[in-house]
Amino acid sequence: MTKVRLFDSKDKADQTVGLNKIVKLQIDDLQFCLARTHKGYFAFEKSCPHMSDDLGKGRINPQLEVVCPWHDYKFDLESGEESQHRCKDLIRYTLLWEGDALYVSL
Ligand code: FES
Repeated sequence: MTKVRLFDSKDKADQTVGLNKIVKLQIDDLQFCLARTHKGYFAFEKSCPHMSDDLGKGRINPQLEVVCPWHDYKFDLESGEESQHRCKDLIRYTLLWEGDALYVSL
């Protein structure tokens, strides 16, 4: 597992990722999504577990789920579960704050 620094400060992270928005990031060959909600940041795989659409083009709903743009499957950002268990869980990546810096474990 690799720990990578994403942002040096919370201000920088907040400027990059708007509230309830998703941005796509890439580290080496791995593209993934980073979302910010009122409960904090969540990192998860870019490809939908259903049929691989780009979750970076999805949206965050009030239930803290990422909604896929293709078939509207909804994945809980905290558990990764699809709301109706129609496909496998979303892969999520651990985020951690060290001081003011945000890291992801990949
Ligand atoms: S590809 Fe995401 S819900 Fe079907």
